Amino acid sequence: MSDLGARAAELVRERVVVALDFDTLEEALQLVDTLGERVARYKVGMRLFTRYGPSILQALEARGAKVFLDLKFHDIPSVVSDACAAAAEHPSVFMLTVHASGGEAMLRQAVRGAERGRPDDPPLVVAVSALTSLKSRELPSVGVGMGVTDWAEKLGALALKSGVDGVVCSAHEAEGLRARVGAKPVLVTPGIRLEDVHIAGDDQARTMTPGRAMASGSTYLVIGRPIYQAPDPGAAVDAVCDSVVSWLEEIR
Ligand code: C5P
Repeated sequence: MSDLGARAAELVRERVVVALDFDTLEEALQLVDTLGERVARYKVGMRLFTRYGPSILQALEARGAKVFLDLKFHDIPSVVSDACAAAAEHPSVFMLTVHASGGEAMLRQAVRGAERGRPDDPPLVVAVSALTSLKSRELPSVGVGMGVTDWAEKLGALALKSGVDGVVCSAHEAEGLRARVGAKPVLVTPGIRLEDVHIAGDDQARTMTPGRAMASGSTYLVIGRPIYQAPDPGAAVDAVCDSVVSWLEEIR
């Protein structure tokens, strides 16, 4: 493997999070076993967690995987704080999500909870702003009097001001956001697509290749269907590495 190939493989292990959007533990673990050393980080969402609870975290931990626990907590501050502390007690959880619309007190308590659960190495707390499924025309019905882009920006700014480690955003927003917020905040970007790979019924509106997403300042790239729906998921991760190599060649 070339030096750039090795560096890209390392970046993929550090910064790519494969979404385990499955109904069963067997399917999820089969993917993890297939990808082996290529991938170190996985996203567990409410679909798997609601079925299997912490046993999914233990199964991933036994395989040495790190977990992005995407349960999007949104409740009163004390409840969210306790939930974040409980998540942090699982050593595999390196990052978790909360809803920015829970407000400043909830966001601050989320960070405190994560620190309480694992004081020496708390998981990152990242905030979800506006769900990508929401359309501007729907917002008045939930009491929001602005367009979805403005609302997402407002919630993102509130989250960072409230002390969370980062935000979930589109890779297309990452570049501008990175320029505004500086190097420290974690930017987590779904909507990553490989060139020339068509996903049937794709609902991701504004996508970006892995290499371009890293160039745009994204810290963690969340990739689901391009990997788990691929006929050969290992080869799909190799294609992610190739995209990262193209970026590394540009900046060499
Ligand atoms: O689209 P893909 O399968 O790569 O999805 C990766 C992650 O992106 C999903 O686990 C989900 O959390 C998120 N997603 C999103 N908006 C969508 C579809 C998925 O943010 N429309």
